[in-house]
Amino acid sequence: MDSPIHNPSASGHQIHCIATFTFNSRKTNLNYPDILTDKSNSMCGIVGYIGNKPAEPILIEGLKRLEYRGYDSVGIAVIRDGKIYLQKCPGRISNLEQQLRDNPPAAPAANNNPIQESTKSTIGIAHTRWATHGKANKVNAHPHTDCSGKIAIVHNGIIENYASLKQVLIEKGHQFTSQTDSEILAHLIEEFYQGGKVDFVQAVQSALREVSGTYGLAVICADQPDILVAARKGSPLIVGVGADEYIVASDAAAIVAHTANVVYLNDNEVAVAGKDGLKTLTLDNALISKQVEQIECSLEEIALGGYEHFMLKEIFEQPECLRNTLRGRLNLQDETIQLGGLTEVSKELIKIRRIILTGCGTAWHAGLIGEYLFEDIAKIPAEVEYASELRYRNPIIEDATAVIAVSQSGETADTLSALREVKQKGALTLGVVNVVGSSIARETDAGVYLHVGPEIGVASTKAFTAQITVLALISLYLGRRRFLSQATLQYYMEQLSAIPDKVEEVLQQSDKIAQIARECYQHNNWLFLGRGYNYPIALEGALKLKEISYIHAEGLPAAEMKHGPIALIHEGMPVVFLATRCSTYEKILGNIQEVRARGGRIIAIATRGDGSITKYADDVLFIPDCPVPLTPILTVVPLQLLAYHAAVARGCDVDKPRNLAKSVTVE
Ligand code: AGP
Ligand code: GLU
Repeated sequence: MDSPIHNPSASGHQIHCIATFTFNSRKTNLNYPDILTDKSNSMCGIVGYIGNKPAEPILIEGLKRLEYRGYDSVGIAVIRDGKIYLQKCPGRISNLEQQLRDNPPAAPAANNNPIQESTKSTIGIAHTRWATHGKANKVNAHPHTDCSGKIAIVHNGIIENYASLKQVLIEKGHQFTSQTDSEILAHLIEEFYQGGKVDFVQAVQSALREVSGTYGLAVICADQPDILVAARKGSPLIVGVGADEYIVASDAAAIVAHTANVVYLNDNEVAVAGKDGLKTLTLDNALISKQVEQIECSLEEIALGGYEHFMLKEIFEQPECLRNTLRGRLNLQDETIQLGGLTEVSKELIKIRRIILTGCGTAWHAGLIGEYLFEDIAKIPAEVEYASELRYRNPIIEDATAVIAVSQSGETADTLSALREVKQKGALTLGVVNVVGSSIARETDAGVYLHVGPEIGVASTKAFTAQITVLALISLYLGRRRFLSQATLQYYMEQLSAIPDKVEEVLQQSDKIAQIARECYQHNNWLFLGRGYNYPIALEGALKLKEISYIHAEGLPAAEMKHGPIALIHEGMPVVFLATRCSTYEKILGNIQEVRARGGRIIAIATRGDGSITKYADDVLFIPDCPVPLTPILTVVPLQLLAYHAAVARGCDVDKPRNLAKSVTVE
């Protein structure tokens, strides 16, 4: 094979290239141009190490940094003395650590060798699993090995044609031990490797040419202890380039402690890291030249920084995050909105006659607020669609339609698929994304980054407020090119710049919110009611509570309550009302009375200075006054805290809620 992109022995220097891609044309859109640094995080849970240090502690540490993404089971495999040793278990990384202490790694049955404590392994792979195929038990945990026990793989994603491949492999005599789709990769590679008759890297490439679906993959082979092979399709993979060592991971978080120099793999690329340096290849073994880039995601950013949970840290980071989201975008002197990421398509944007916003979960809620903002401020017909629905319902995309994909991770499979679908139909695609260089950021025609840094908590908080902020910025940007007067723009710009301080004020009520949560957490059913811009916040408040405290909650347009859900109200049931000052305020008061009459416990979010609300509500949390379209950025904050404190009161694992993964990269 040709010379590597990084050769540790060549000069002692790596090529450094700060990740400042520019958005040149639709085809080469890696990033939106106002990005200054790569603060990316992405998803999944793979780590691989090759170098001259003991691999095990590095892999475990890396797993811990990735644990928040998918964590129903964990596992590790290393090569020692030409054999693969494996340890895996359901549950947390702490379980794996305990096992490693109690029973050091066991070799797979095919080569059941005793542990040589004296020999340290310097190559290995590890995985945190979020099960898609097969239960979250020890057998299904990764790494998976082939029949010979010589090849071990870790995989994130889904191998869609695994069933037919498995059948063929079984017919050829392969024996499977797990119910996972992933295990076929180990056997398929074994099949092509032919016991060493074929080059190992080529065997991996041949295997990958056979599979359809998505993968972030790391592979080791006991016969080849000097190389670590990794590959990517639809699931991010980064190679950290250290001094004489390489760390492959699905997330920069697992790498930053060791090096800031990284190579980003693209889809259908294979990386081979080892003594001879690092090479990236196509599946057909052609060498791809790549640059070593520098990540600027600090350890501090991903550490807890004194907070008990990442979610709480991220809730409290919101004022600072929103300042970052707004930085450089509100030009108060020129009285213009600066969105560098949209410059390339600004002419097309003027002609836009319809906007479709799409996303999932919390991002979809932000999209719903976007719908209101675009119609209200920019006067452009807008609608929001769940990405999972948009993708499969063959949507009609007429000329002059822009589709905005909203996503924290930029990797959500449903959103990405919807984006690809509408792109094929000729839509102009925009991204409102947090993770720099993520798939959605790369595949959209243009877009605007959130700039809120890594969001670690599974429950999205700071990304949500930033998504609304960015959607407000885009609606002002588009509005000004249509009917919005300079004076109105200026008013909104001033109001937006005051938002971070107002969020800070709302956060000061955290103790009071904790008290309310302690009084209500034992109720298993809650309602969240709001109208207009606060309706999506009712949905978001309910989602937050469900996700982390496992309390059943419903968010509804307040007026809908009387058409059915009012039957649920019983003595003491917590009902959260978003009752800020707006045109429907009086109506909301009516809805509050209806619930009160039936014994519900009213928790109201109201505008500071509202003296009358206390007469109707059991508890009132106040937000500072602000223009109605910006209200959701403030009203969601007490609901984030309410969910957080309720989850803590119930003893739930806030950052690692059951059944959830940070980024859902499967459909
Ligand atoms: C948010 O709290 C959720 N965990 C989830 O709904 C999330 O917003 C959704 O999966 C979309 O993720 P994305 O923003 O990374 O695309
Ligand atoms: N589909 C694989 C499994 O269920 C990988 C899941 C993951 O991405 O963690 O094991």
